[in-house]
Amino acid sequence: MQDKTVYLNGEYVPLSEAKVSVLDRGFLFGDGVYEVIPAYFGKLFCLKAHLQRLSNSLNAIRLDVPFDAEQWLDILQPLLIEGDAQYIYLQITRGVADKRDHAFPEHCEPTIFAMCSAIVPFAREQGVQAITLDDMRWQLCHIKATTLLANILLRQQAVDQECAEAILIKEGYATEGAASNIFVVLNGELITPPISHEILPGITRDVIIELAQANGVSAREEVISLADLQTASEIWLTSSTREILPVTVLDNKPVGDGCVGPVWQTMQTLFQEYKRVA
Ligand SMILES: Cc1ncc(COP(=O)(O)O)c(C=O)c1O
Repeated sequence: MQDKTVYLNGEYVPLSEAKVSVLDRGFLFGDGVYEVIPAYFGKLFCLKAHLQRLSNSLNAIRLDVPFDAEQWLDILQPLLIEGDAQYIYLQITRGVADKRDHAFPEHCEPTIFAMCSAIVPFAREQGVQAITLDDMRWQLCHIKATTLLANILLRQQAVDQECAEAILIKEGYATEGAASNIFVVLNGELITPPISHEILPGITRDVIIELAQANGVSAREEVISLADLQTASEIWLTSSTREILPVTVLDNKPVGDGCVGPVWQTMQTLFQEYKRVA
């Protein structure tokens, strides 16, 4: 294992020396939140938006971490490693309590951990396979919580069927992927589900909506029924590490003509350009 430098509670230490107590509430309960922040050409991408979402997640779990954007940048920037595409994983838990109790401890210092990894290049042009699964997660999916057991089980079910992702269906409507947002192209129009407690407000999602609207690609936020999903000419999954990933086979049937579509090509070009200038 590569012994890279990571950040833990105010210190930069080799990964092999970064240790957290077994009484940490992140370990015992999954009582924490996280962010995944990509960095292209040595610069953190959409940092402001990621920090805003982090702040929303912290507020939602009633955890106070009084760092401003400048302090976060000072912590994260030194972690960036060589290479064009990397991502920072940042996790904050409620910290170490002296006994295991569901209710918040009276005194507890948050545990703050961050590390940087390379984004592995991915051949998106071929498209990937996905399956639909029942969205059996909880009602607070807008919080980027480390408590990810449902998402893990769903993604593994997809992987077991040689699929890259599970697209989740709740009461007949597509919400998002197990670790991604979804977009479809229906009658030439780009559609993604509106922000709600049922999905994570993806930063990549927001960038795509903005880029589409600024470049004359018709895009709107609207619910996507299972029937829409089955008749869409294009389906994409979006996330910070996978960017815009076209799904060419859904539930063993081709999406559209089974090849990546023209709207994806357009947005892929716009997104790659934006990564260089943002
Ligand atoms: C459940 C879920 N939805 C959406 C996303 C996409 O969010 P972002 O574009 O900010 O990476 C992720 C990212 O991991 C996710 O886990």
